[in-house]
Amino acid sequence: MSTARPLATLIKMFERLQKKWKVNGLQLGLILCTFAIGGSLTGFVGKKIMNALSINQDWLWTIIYIILITLLWPMAVLVVSIFFGQFRFFLKYIKKIGARMGIVRSENGSWKAEVESQEFRVQSRESKPVNPEPVLQVQQTRTIATSRIAIFASGAGSNAKKIIDHFRGSDYIKIALIACNNPYAGVLKIAAIENIPTLIIEKEKFLRGNAYLDELKDKQIGFIVLAGFLWKIPDALLKAYPVQIINIHPALLPKYGGKGMYGNNVHETVIAAREKESGITIHYVDEHYDNGDIILQVKCPVLENDTPDSLADRIHKLEHEYYPKAIEKLLAK
Ligand code: GAR
Repeated sequence: MSTARPLATLIKMFERLQKKWKVNGLQLGLILCTFAIGGSLTGFVGKKIMNALSINQDWLWTIIYIILITLLWPMAVLVVSIFFGQFRFFLKYIKKIGARMGIVRSENGSWKAEVESQEFRVQSRESKPVNPEPVLQVQQTRTIATSRIAIFASGAGSNAKKIIDHFRGSDYIKIALIACNNPYAGVLKIAAIENIPTLIIEKEKFLRGNAYLDELKDKQIGFIVLAGFLWKIPDALLKAYPVQIINIHPALLPKYGGKGMYGNNVHETVIAAREKESGITIHYVDEHYDNGDIILQVKCPVLENDTPDSLADRIHKLEHEYYPKAIEKLLAK
């Protein structure tokens, strides 16, 4: 029997895991080693403890063994993960399992588990096609539709980075351009590392010229994601991409949006207003600041002792988790 098929299946499985966990090949290897050794260690220590307990009834032995293994396994993999340099990955992994089982609070606290149990759903504009993407000719016999995304960002670019990571290796979604109005923005360094073409946009041409439509067309851009982009989107761009521009805002719109409401300004205002909760809003873009139809909102609490920075951290975590997923759902075929 040929070994080519099982090998191809195995490689595919590894690729899928890499994509799911967003890790490179080396890290995947280290993670799998940790699972294997952690599992064996669990079995070994479990048996030793059971022998010491010397329980005679089979049914009791089995029940206690299962409970013991369940408790030992997270500890064993965490210990082993230290030696493979994968502690952070496994801590997150185990917390995730714990949160799903309702045993531990998830990373962002219990409110996040609430969001997850409500089932993550994005709002697409039913009446209009969300994704009239360009069609890329691959072979004569086959065409695949690709969603070529441009990310517009002016700041550090942490959201842009998460989106790039999320779609790395995707068959049909490609981050094809980073557009930026600030030549010193951190997001440009990310683009350089990731080898993604960039476009530096100037106010005059953007707002009163053709809004860089030729450049976007040239790169076959089908969808625009604003991630910390602070200029209003001009009519020319809205007309060309009527339902294909989305934005993320670090508060629960319609509250705390509008001109000048970005970054820490938003969090300072939310804290000053003694709000008990804040969150993120992902929405379609229209001719007003932070105003289009809402696609998704995720809430988090505002704590008594929050500073704008601590609240920003909590909200950034939500943004990083939900923005890439929301884009994927919107562009899903
Ligand atoms: C994000 O928090 C985003 O919600 C906000 O800018 C930040 C960009 O951070 N956008 C707005 O305030 C838009 N009104 P990043 O550069 O690290 O992705």
